[in-house]
Amino acid sequence: MSTAISPTAYNYKVVRQFAIMTVVWGILGMGMGVFIATQLVFPELNFGLPWTSFGRLRPLHTNLVIFAFGGCALFATSYYVVQRTCQARLISDSLASFTFWGWQAVIVMAGITLPLGYTTTKEYAELEWPIAILLAIVWVTYGVVFFGTIVKRKTKHIYVGNWFYGAFIVVTAMLHIVNHMSIPVSLFKSYSLYSGATDAMIQWWYGHNAVGFFLTTGFLGMMYYFVPKQAERPIYSYRLSIVHFWALITLYIWAGPHHLHYTALPDWAQSLGMAMSIILLAPSWGGMINGMMTLSGAWHKLRTDPILRFLVVSLAFYGMSTFEGPMMAIKTVNALSHYTDWTIGHVHAGALGWVAMISIGALYHMIPKLWGRPQMHSIGLINAHFWLATIGTVLYIASMWVNGITQGLMWRAINEDGTLTYSFVEALQASHPGFVVRAIGGAFFASGMLLMAYNTFRTVRASKPAEVEAAAQIAVGAH
Ligand code: HEM
Ligand code: HEM
Repeated sequence: MSTAISPTAYNYKVVRQFAIMTVVWGILGMGMGVFIATQLVFPELNFGLPWTSFGRLRPLHTNLVIFAFGGCALFATSYYVVQRTCQARLISDSLASFTFWGWQAVIVMAGITLPLGYTTTKEYAELEWPIAILLAIVWVTYGVVFFGTIVKRKTKHIYVGNWFYGAFIVVTAMLHIVNHMSIPVSLFKSYSLYSGATDAMIQWWYGHNAVGFFLTTGFLGMMYYFVPKQAERPIYSYRLSIVHFWALITLYIWAGPHHLHYTALPDWAQSLGMAMSIILLAPSWGGMINGMMTLSGAWHKLRTDPILRFLVVSLAFYGMSTFEGPMMAIKTVNALSHYTDWTIGHVHAGALGWVAMISIGALYHMIPKLWGRPQMHSIGLINAHFWLATIGTVLYIASMWVNGITQGLMWRAINEDGTLTYSFVEALQASHPGFVVRAIGGAFFASGMLLMAYNTFRTVRASKPAEVEAAAQIAVGAH
């Protein structure tokens, strides 16, 4: 396959590599999700071994779906979008290639160390210090490639999608570095530099902004490019997109304490986190509306275009999860929802409904263009994938709502004499049907990814080297 070095061609090679790995990690990460969901239905599947226990495989799932699947989707689309909207090739092929191989190395090391039990114990920041340092180096390189390309752009202004990608890159670097400050005691063990409530606050400042910047801001960058492209309409309001950007990035950073309600964190910090989370509804919905309204006059396309359906339904789930989140941040609501499956349902409304659906839509748009094909091999398979993903997400989140509220109510029920009405095991038994439905929903979603892999394989196989080369040519005036 050609790696056209010509400055008149985009570097699509690295985009193609990340795009393929998005599909591969998507299948493995979601497959792992289905496996751990099934472990909760049939505990025998823990096999009595530490390496295959739920406790070790759960962080493997989160790392694979967030950093491997989500991360590769973000790398692929940001490299594609920044080149096309700047009409410039990435500043360095070798640095871009380093980010690809470095990122895959981090993921493979996560896949080895997490089942072996090496972990910092900080959620979403489990990787031990040598891997965390490699990740930081790859990330800084990513920043150099991305911003370097913006600097050498041929267009006058910087398209708003790049603002979102840029903020995601900068803030992720800041979060990762600050939260990983630790003292190594051996090659595979380190202790956090912070302690007690400070450690908890830094961890959830990181954790919430990982949601805000990794799982939201980066994907909004994707939204601002691929929704107008696929709908063949300009973005509904450019002004709103600027307000959306500044409001989102200034507000998100304050909301972390909603993960620490009723803990040793000072009460004022909890209340501040709650207030900022409620205000966060406004920019979140501003962005969602901007995306949705871009379809004004193009709604009829939804009847025939399953890619657009992926993109629009992802925005609907984004709107839903960013309504649910502020509600759950209210302390009295959180008193019921915290520790229950309601949180898990909320997570996957965002993760499956928003993050995965928008990535899948963006990939279906981008893959034929990367390989110089007019469209994906089969539109029918995209449609089948769409329904599997939508039904799977609905089954997942509906079962978790039922489970979450059941658990919350059963745990807090007390008899007249003050004793608990239900034991923990009774609440667990009541959750079992929900676990079954969630595993089925997850299997629906993951099987859609297999259709995507087949469709991608056939599209790539049909492409000729000359088509691949022609696809990367920079057409001046075209974004
Ligand atoms: C086929 C799809 C999926 C299935 C079946 C699945 C299943 C699961 C299960 C069973 C858990 C553990 C729940 C518990 O501890 O009770 C979990 C946790 C989690 N999953 Fe997934 N998952 C899927 C896809 C995804 C995707 C695509 C993402 C992100 C992009 C994601 C992000 C997470 C996160 C962040 C958690 C931890 C939640 C928390 O600690 O509150 N999952 N998943
Ligand atoms: C305005 C937007 C949002 C707000 C205010 C918000 C708020 C919340 C709240 C209150 C919790 C429960 C904390 C707890 O009880 O432990 C939570 C958990 C979570 N949310 Fe959101 N949420 C928002 C959007 C999203 C989106 C769009 C996603 C995913 C893409 C997401 C992913 C998560 C994850 C992964 C957790 C679980 C963290 C953990 O405990 O491991 N949230 N969110």
